[in-house]
Amino acid sequence: MIQLKDIRFHYPNSPHESMLNIPHWSLSHHEHTFIYGPSGCGKTTFLNLLSGLLTPTHGTIDVCQQRLDRMSSRQRDRFRAGHIGYVFQQLNLIPYLNAIENIQLASYFSPSTEAKSSILDIKHLLRSLNMTKHEWSQPTRQLSLGQQQRVAIARALINKPKLLIADEPTSALDSKNTKTIMSFMMSLSKSHQVSLVFVSHDLSLADYFHRVEPFQHINQWESIASCSYN
Ligand SMILES: Nc1ncnc2c1ncn2[C@@H]1O[C@H](COP(=O)(O)OP(=O)(O)OP(=O)(O)O)[C@@H](O)[C@H]1O
Ligand SMILES: [Mg+2]
Repeated sequence: MIQLKDIRFHYPNSPHESMLNIPHWSLSHHEHTFIYGPSGCGKTTFLNLLSGLLTPTHGTIDVCQQRLDRMSSRQRDRFRAGHIGYVFQQLNLIPYLNAIENIQLASYFSPSTEAKSSILDIKHLLRSLNMTKHEWSQPTRQLSLGQQQRVAIARALINKPKLLIADEPTSALDSKNTKTIMSFMMSLSKSHQVSLVFVSHDLSLADYFHRVEPFQHINQWESIASCSYN
């Protein structure tokens, strides 16, 4: 599903020549991995490379047998809309639209006609994530962070992606909702054979995964040791 080789990346204004140095990393079809690590060490940056939001300064990124590092930014946007569901750490919901409208927008951008979802599908998904009719009818800026997080999860799932990337998707949820959402995400990923890259600081969630990896094992950049835990 994903193959990274000789990846190096740094932000243009970064004092370091390389912030990510990943000799090799891969994820098989239908595999689920849980990644954890210190704050500021590049987990979100890594997920942005996997999804084509960023491009590496060096190396190759293969996702679903397509070379992301060779695509234009427009091609990467299209590829992401068609193949990847991404729950962003900062959610990126449109604040003045309600949950249904935010999710419909993601469905609208899907290039696949069979992935197009009806309002009924969207409501069903939101119900499975413990959202009420009252909650999904309000502009998302009026929802609590935990409610917004569930909308962002629904939006990532609506196009039935083959790869789901989730960046701290449960950080604002109470333990009851965390359990519901984790069970739902895991069973949906299994039944739809979705590959899952899941980043979290909450090590108790590692129990849901067979594969658990500290980010320091992925990123070989030596200064990573200087990063601090939250
Ligand atoms: N757009 C940007 N431009 C320049 N530097 C950035 C940018 N985004 C992140 N960084 C820097 O890159 C490093 C890694 O950031 P990143 O967000 O990937 O960390 P993280 O592991 O996801 O942290 P957290 O656990 O707090 O979410 C940080 O030092 C951060 O300051
Ligand atoms: Mg992050």
